[in-house]
Amino acid sequence: MAGYEFSRSPRKVPLVSTRHRSIQTPIPAPGTEQILAELDRYESRSMHGQFPLIWERAQDYSVYDIAGNRWVDFTSTIFVANVGHSNPRVTAAMQQTMEQPIYSCYAYPNRKRAEYLQRLIEFAGKPFEKAFLLSAGTEATEAALKLMRMHGQKAGKRRRGIICIEGNWHGRTMGAQMLSSNLAQREWIGFQDANIHHIPFPYPWALKGATPEEFLAAGLKKLEAAGIDLEQDICGFMLETFQGWGAVFYPKAFVQAIEKLCRQHGILLAFDEMQAGFGRTGKRFGFQHYGVTPDLIACGKGMGGGVPLSGVIGRAEIMDLPDIGNMSSTHSANPMVCAAGLAVIDELESRNLVEETARKGELLFKGLNELKQRFPDRIGELLGQGLIAAVLFRSSANGQADGPFTSLVAERCMQKGLLVVHTGRESIKIGPPLTISDEALLEGVAVMGEAIAEIIAEGNA
Ligand SMILES: Cc1ncc(COP(=O)(O)O)c(C=O)c1O
Repeated sequence: MAGYEFSRSPRKVPLVSTRHRSIQTPIPAPGTEQILAELDRYESRSMHGQFPLIWERAQDYSVYDIAGNRWVDFTSTIFVANVGHSNPRVTAAMQQTMEQPIYSCYAYPNRKRAEYLQRLIEFAGKPFEKAFLLSAGTEATEAALKLMRMHGQKAGKRRRGIICIEGNWHGRTMGAQMLSSNLAQREWIGFQDANIHHIPFPYPWALKGATPEEFLAAGLKKLEAAGIDLEQDICGFMLETFQGWGAVFYPKAFVQAIEKLCRQHGILLAFDEMQAGFGRTGKRFGFQHYGVTPDLIACGKGMGGGVPLSGVIGRAEIMDLPDIGNMSSTHSANPMVCAAGLAVIDELESRNLVEETARKGELLFKGLNELKQRFPDRIGELLGQGLIAAVLFRSSANGQADGPFTSLVAERCMQKGLLVVHTGRESIKIGPPLTISDEALLEGVAVMGEAIAEIIAEGNA
């Protein structure tokens, strides 16, 4: 990640051998540097900056490198491997389509696609009736944007406005970056869509005594002052279910107040469920924590269990707005990814992974709270739900966010056989496969404690 460079030359580290981790070589393992150099030479720099280890094999909650070192994975390849890496049911389902054989079929009718869509809609539950499948998450958020606008324009030509939340993030293509509020990342576009508006995120530390409803009203007042009318101009609200970098959920009342406004003014409510969907938070979808009913959800990541599968799910009246051919994609829903998606749902349901995630989440947060008590001047906030957590680190000198300390902790975890999500900010994100055993989960938390203690004792940060 930008801002911190992990050391690439092999460094002697204490050897580790437990039931879940094995570090038997210097880290990075010999041979890693050469592969990284090839990637540097032939691949866009924008893909680089991750931990210097070569992912050779990943199974369930373990990642192995080229030397056979084994890590407990708290990343799920950023919240993709919900049903475990290389899940056998997913593998078998894809193999079947290969043996059939059929690799792709564009929008031509296909039995696997029909079977998957039916299961997907059942899994999503009411009021969802139809889905449109894609490959990348950013395509799904853009499709939601398009559907909200089409819906708004049907009601009145002026209704193109979408309200998003500051600090939220929806992907890297143009529309998705405009929905996101990361100014540096969207600088390349050169302009901002005048019909995409941002209101402040109700961070716990931003409320400053205001109720969530008051905080929302203050944000909307600024739009009103700029001449924007909810009834005339706005077609949709787009919410990232929780704010990614810090797993920051909204106060329930904030989201409920948005839903009320949506219903009053005929505005659609969409959630970007990319990270939150498919069991990650201990519910099927993260929006369920708020007691609201969205009109659209944009999903990806865990939906395909490791293969490129994303989609928008919504009510039929909205999903059928585009004419035939106006919303399709060459690789939409090929039989292989549909088979994988079906196996993911089978796996979530047959192993009770959603309920299990809620249970394991309690274990995880109990362990993290113990760490917070052990390092009170270093760990500021613990955020998240289920098996998505963010630990926010601060400086012991001034209590401010401490990105460099966080990076050192993340790197030390890696050297000890634990992979966490390095955000490049003051947060370490934790999102293991939902299949992780209790023992491996708690071992990972203990390793994080060892890493923090060591970095503090070394006194360099
Ligand atoms: C909340 C959210 N929305 C959208 C995306 C974009 O998904 P993709 O990278 O598959 O395009 C991501 C990916 O990190 C995400 O976390």
